Amino acid sequence: MTKVAIIGAGPCGLSMLRSFEQAEKKGEKIPEIVCFEKQDDWGGLWNYSWRTGSDQYGDPVPNSMYRYLWSNGPKECLEFADYSFDEHFGKPIPSFPPREVLYDYILGRVKKGNLKDKIKFNHNVNNVLYNGKNFEVTVLNKKNNKISKDIFDYLVVSTGHFSVPFIPEYPGMNSFPGRILHSHDFRDAEEFRGKNVVVLGSSYSAEDVALQCHKYGAKSVTIGYRHNPMGFKWPKGMKEVFHLDRLEGSKAIFKDDHEQETDAVILCTGYLHHFPFLSEDLKLKTTNRLYPPMLYKGIVWKNNHKLLYLGMQDQFHTFNMFDCQAWFARDVIMKKIKIPNNSEIEKDINKWIALQDKLENPDQMIDFQTEYTKELHSLSDYPKIDFELIRKHFKEWEHHKVEDIMTYRNKSFSSPVTGSVGPVHHTPWETAMDDSLKAFLDQPKK
Ligand SMILES: Cc1cc2nc3c(=O)[nH]c(=O)nc-3n(C[C@H](O)[C@H](O)[C@H](O)COP(=O)(O)OP(=O)(O)OC[C@H]3O[C@@H](n4cnc5c(N)ncnc54)[C@H](O)[C@@H]3O)c2cc1C
Ligand SMILES: NC(=O)c1ccc[n+]([C@@H]2O[C@H](COP(=O)([O-])OP(=O)(O)OC[C@H]3O[C@@H](n4cnc5c(N)ncnc54)[C@H](OP(=O)(O)O)[C@@H]3O)[C@@H](O)[C@H]2O)c1
Repeated sequence: MTKVAIIGAGPCGLSMLRSFEQAEKKGEKIPEIVCFEKQDDWGGLWNYSWRTGSDQYGDPVPNSMYRYLWSNGPKECLEFADYSFDEHFGKPIPSFPPREVLYDYILGRVKKGNLKDKIKFNHNVNNVLYNGKNFEVTVLNKKNNKISKDIFDYLVVSTGHFSVPFIPEYPGMNSFPGRILHSHDFRDAEEFRGKNVVVLGSSYSAEDVALQCHKYGAKSVTIGYRHNPMGFKWPKGMKEVFHLDRLEGSKAIFKDDHEQETDAVILCTGYLHHFPFLSEDLKLKTTNRLYPPMLYKGIVWKNNHKLLYLGMQDQFHTFNMFDCQAWFARDVIMKKIKIPNNSEIEKDINKWIALQDKLENPDQMIDFQTEYTKELHSLSDYPKIDFELIRKHFKEWEHHKVEDIMTYRNKSFSSPVTGSVGPVHHTPWETAMDDSLKAFLDQPKK
């Protein structure tokens, strides 16, 4: 019997498990599957932990999410085609839920079956070698410190790529008297109440960490961009300046000569694709981009078609794109999809990369990833979902952010699965301090 190893039980690993479950429900004979997850529970980044650094076993903590994190895109854009928000919550809910609500939704779909039995928790995949025929996978059971080896025909790498921080160095850091941290280790904006904070970066983490610090009472927030500013209309107390030059004592000095007394520097400088467990011939080497190299359909390793990567792209689309990838990967493994010859593969990869290299603005990037996801969708039996509506939603959302970065999360969108419209939330995001599932779903007492 074919044996498949899935590494990671985050949203991508769970999509993979779900895809096999759905095939089995249709009466198809599925392979033997083992999913290894190094944390003690499923959900990947959405499985919040207060921990930073290493866990109780000395293993690096993969978590990069923080308290008070709300979805930064409309939930309708990531909805599962086979498990709607209406089905999970029993009623329409607002379009920008906090982390705990999305975590509940992700797990709702997989809790229905017996998928948890296929996952080995607290199992860290340490090493993978390809012996010319199959994969030799070495795994550490973190609880009893025992190492085991097993042989698999296929390997699915769904370990995420927002867990290992990229940490740059600036002059003056060693003698800075305040706190320096990466957004990977940011957990609670309350820590910065009354403080002057410098945030470096110009992408989603910089935007949201800066807004969080402002929302929870930082005295000032100064964002230092390196190439292009985000350019939003920042509220009073926030500003965007050009690239940090150096720290002198507690002063941050920027390349546009701007100076700012600061208590903390938060590096929102992105993450590394990091696969220390893979031998060099199997390892994806890429920056965070919409079409990483060496992957046919963004999934199948060009030089070994039994190695499949999920979710390695930079992401506008998330959960339903991961599903489309998983359904495609499943059909490759179950030999329902035939991989073409090397020159066709090369042509296909080159076509996407050439398109990606021409992208100039967010609308074009949204189009690119929507086209990619639609193509994958057309290649498997993943249920019907309206990707044209999702494309439209993403573009509207981008425009809402430009209009007002403080209010874009108060808007409503319609579901690409059920058509229902998310109601307006009972409290605007700027004043909604409690991010619990209960506070989000309950109407506050008048
Ligand atoms: C701060 C932050 C906020 C985000 N907010 C949003 C949002 O609002 N909306 C959205 O759609 N997306 C958001 N994302 C994007 C996020 O990447 C996806 O939502 C999703 O979590 C990706 O799923 P994944 O399965 O690829 O990776 P992950 O969620 O990272 O899961 C990977 C899993 O693999 C496990 N693993 C790693 N290495 C090993 C190993 N060697 N052995 C065994 N197990 C291993 C990890 O423990 C983890 O459980 C956010 C990302 C970050 C960093
Ligand atoms: N739900 C939420 O609210 C939320 C919050 C945070 C993050 N996220 C998600 O988390 C994921 C990761 O986002 P991310 O912003 O961490 O990573 P990212 O999108 O890869 O962006 C990395 C940023 O780091 C900057 N950078 C790199 N080196 C730098 C340096 N030396 N000095 C200054 N800036 C530097 C880059 O700037 P250049 O452009 O100049 O290269 C870029 O702006 C995304 O999927 C995002 O959606 C979501």
